[in-house]
Amino acid sequence: MRVCDLIERKRDRGRLAPDEIRTLIAAYTRGDVPAYQMSALLMAIYLNGMDDAELTAWTQAMLYSGKVLDLGHIQGAKVDKHSTGGVGDKISLPLAPLVAACGLKVPMVSGRGLGHTGGTLDKLESITGFRTDLPTERFIEMVDQLGLSLIGQTAEIAPADKKLYALRDVTGTVSSIPLIASSIMSKKMAEGIDALVLDVKVGSGAFMRTVEEARVLARTMVAVGEGMGRRVVALLTDMDQPLGLTCGNALEVVEAIDILRGGGPADVRELTLTLARVMLELGGADPDEAERALDDGRALARFRTVVEAQGGDPHLVDHPEKLPKAPKIEPFLAPRAGYVSAIDTRMVGLAALVLGAGRQQAEDAVDPRVGLVLAHRLGDYVEAGEPLLWIHHADVGVDDARRRLEAAWQIGDAPPAVRPLVLDRIG
Ligand code: URA
Repeated sequence: MRVCDLIERKRDRGRLAPDEIRTLIAAYTRGDVPAYQMSALLMAIYLNGMDDAELTAWTQAMLYSGKVLDLGHIQGAKVDKHSTGGVGDKISLPLAPLVAACGLKVPMVSGRGLGHTGGTLDKLESITGFRTDLPTERFIEMVDQLGLSLIGQTAEIAPADKKLYALRDVTGTVSSIPLIASSIMSKKMAEGIDALVLDVKVGSGAFMRTVEEARVLARTMVAVGEGMGRRVVALLTDMDQPLGLTCGNALEVVEAIDILRGGGPADVRELTLTLARVMLELGGADPDEAERALDDGRALARFRTVVEAQGGDPHLVDHPEKLPKAPKIEPFLAPRAGYVSAIDTRMVGLAALVLGAGRQQAEDAVDPRVGLVLAHRLGDYVEAGEPLLWIHHADVGVDDARRRLEAAWQIGDAPPAVRPLVLDRIG
């Protein structure tokens, strides 16, 4: 097989055969296909797509590039959630312990920030000592004993996706329906789960800008999962503004802990509970248990336990004010009076990224301290010169972030129509 032939065929809108895909992914995982050839192929796929047979072969090749966990010996339904990526999306942090506290098993393998979006692993690592690189045996033991574990892709779980994810992040090839669907589903199917809830983000801060595109992505992923014998439900949820008030790693952990304490922004609580209810439904448990376990402190206690079990400092869960803090905080002011009529949420994510909350290049480290704290959301009325948000920074990227924020926020004379948080359910 000549990789160049595959690139040319895909460039010319041809199809790749399943055995070509298997050979290619295996060779790439071994390091036998250079990144420049894979980048060219990814761009051809980005531009010309994949049909159902190619998508199935690509997903399975990524799934079997590593180990597929067998959690069959663990009692109870194994259910996970995955988001397609958004800005301020810290939902996994309160959701996983909440669902585990209700009796399900949550084996959660998460990712790092991708493009303008944040990643659960980067957020968790702002808790001093928290390890997301546990060996698979320990991950399985934790799921059995504590009901959950939150780790990153080990070298064993879908290693092809791990390499491709990092490459897509820096080659402009993220927002492709077949590449997102195969990336998410290969990782999730490798976790040994019985059921999966997908949070498919839609809007200016999502990889899918329109409800129609998001619906295609959701249907594609549900079909891939069901084709592999799993129960899968996808919710389409709004990403026309950041979720909650914080964007940036430690800032988002503080907000997640607020939710676990029964407080926090209404949209973060609503989405946490909505996703928890669907997970409980799929796992055969009582969906009403979600609200009880959040409000009586069981979910918070489970989060503290998991933080400690993964090497993190559990005291930070009770004293989130001690999480890493940026040395400087500056307001970003409204240029005029009026209603917040639109937010280019991708730009907001990029503003947080250039402050250091995300990566410009695959090997960059993130700064857990920096990010943005919103003072206003879509539809709010603001006076000229009032803070729209606060920039938490460490003297890196501030002018760039300000330019992006200036482009991102629109203030108008009339209040905008703000759509509901949960837009649709597929499956
Ligand atoms: N999340 C993933 O895991 N993969 C993608 O491609 C996009 C979001």
